Amino acid sequence: MQNIFLNWKQNGSYASILSFVNQIKLNNKYNVVLFLPFPYLFFANGKIITGAQNVSHFKDGAYTGEVGASMLQEVGVKYCLIGHSERRALFEETSFQLKEKIKRLKEHNITPILCVGESQKARKDGNYLQEIERQMSAFSQNVIVAYEPIWSIGTGLIPSTHEIAEVALFIKKAYNTEVLYGGSVNEANAKNILSTSNINGVLVGGASLNVNIINSIIL
Ligand code: PGA
Repeated sequence: MQNIFLNWKQNGSYASILSFVNQIKLNNKYNVVLFLPFPYLFFANGKIITGAQNVSHFKDGAYTGEVGASMLQEVGVKYCLIGHSERRALFEETSFQLKEKIKRLKEHNITPILCVGESQKARKDGNYLQEIERQMSAFSQNVIVAYEPIWSIGTGLIPSTHEIAEVALFIKKAYNTEVLYGGSVNEANAKNILSTSNINGVLVGGASLNVNIINSIIL
């Protein structure tokens, strides 16, 4: 079954999530997961499968402001994003932290989604596979990978299906795992991306806030 992962980022409210889960038309064709800000996870669970957007790399203890994997497990979270390019760039997440986060998640039966993707410069210079390979250093078994070119996130620009297929094959061959595509996915391009070889689903950001768009993708 293909995955439709919805990354709401720092958006949403109690009312907007309630309205979203009441209107989404879930079916057995896709594994739909809603990645919400921490306060909404408890509320959304039971209504839809949930994912977190981040987790502490520490076991529980004196780490003010952090949210641990045990807490995510207790509220029913099944997946967690790791190393999203916004977190790598704005919060300076390191490869060491990502490795620790993956360990914490696995200790609590939460599937990590490791996000990787090249800059526009690396794409232009032709060394994008090397850049992706470097970001894969935190990978371990049973981690899903989301290929999200940085230049495609929130820009409306997307790679050709040939370019997506090349990276998906590269990751699949080396790491033997599920590969998702993310970056400007919308109702116009989703079906095409979902039928690209070696792609096991999509990670949708901006467009995921609109339930009509998601319904048109999953119908
Ligand atoms: P976007 O974001 O769909 O808004 O480009 C994707 C993501 O950052 O996961």
